[in-house]
Amino acid sequence: MTEGAVLELKDVTRVFGAGDAAVTAVSGASVALPKGELVLLMGPSGAGKSTMLQICGALLRPTSGEVWLDGTHVTALTEKQLPAVRLAKLGFVFQAFQLLANLTALENVRLVLEAKGRSKADAEGRAKALLDELSLGHRLHSKPATMSGGEKQRVAVARALANEPPLILADEPTGNLDSKTGAAVMRLLLQAVKERGTSVLCATHDNRVLEVADRIVRIEDGRLRDE
Ligand SMILES: Nc1ncnc2c1ncn2[C@@H]1O[C@H](COP(=O)(O)OP(=O)(O)OP(=O)(O)O)[C@@H](O)[C@H]1O
Ligand SMILES: [Mg+2]
Repeated sequence: MTEGAVLELKDVTRVFGAGDAAVTAVSGASVALPKGELVLLMGPSGAGKSTMLQICGALLRPTSGEVWLDGTHVTALTEKQLPAVRLAKLGFVFQAFQLLANLTALENVRLVLEAKGRSKADAEGRAKALLDELSLGHRLHSKPATMSGGEKQRVAVARALANEPPLILADEPTGNLDSKTGAAVMRLLLQAVKERGTSVLCATHDNRVLEVADRIVRIEDGRLRDE
């Protein structure tokens, strides 16, 4: 891997379908993300942002090319090995929150910590502290259906931060939020970068978040253009 990079893609291509119906969603993408930066992935609808993020998060395999994550060559791993890598190295924040509906805010965050082997008491303490920090101390026992979009997204951010992963991948995290709430969520991600040294790769077509970025990577028709 490139020195100081948390994530590196080497000539990554992803094709969906075959024959006449084949769509090249990502084409020959090479990029190295430096540690401790907030990088925006910007481009029009259908450009390949979500596909890129899924490949970066080892949720989708590239058709060709290599993905390296915090020193690990993830494209060389088996399906069985991937969940442990995701748990150790990644946090995810999605546009549609993707919280578990039957669990409270506290339980949604605690689950990740328990999955990583922390005791229930330890996981609960850390989950509470994180939710408190994100101004959700009064929502610990609320279920997602009773929370506002901004509250749900803050729970998702807490969940992504819980394991202290080196990299957080966010796909349109402000897409379902009003501008004030969206700005607050971006500030939380920025705070993680500044205070914890986390790296964030965030797909967006929200121009309002431009000012918080250390770097912008543009994608168009599956091709990357660094700025
Ligand atoms: N599972 C799939 N099967 C077939 N084609 C797909 C699949 N996922 C994505 N595509 C295609 O790949 C291209 C890139 O899609 P992708 O979802 O990555 O774009 P995006 O930049 O995230 O767009 P948006 O801003 O609308 O979310 C599109 O042409 C899309 O139709
Ligand atoms: Mg998308």
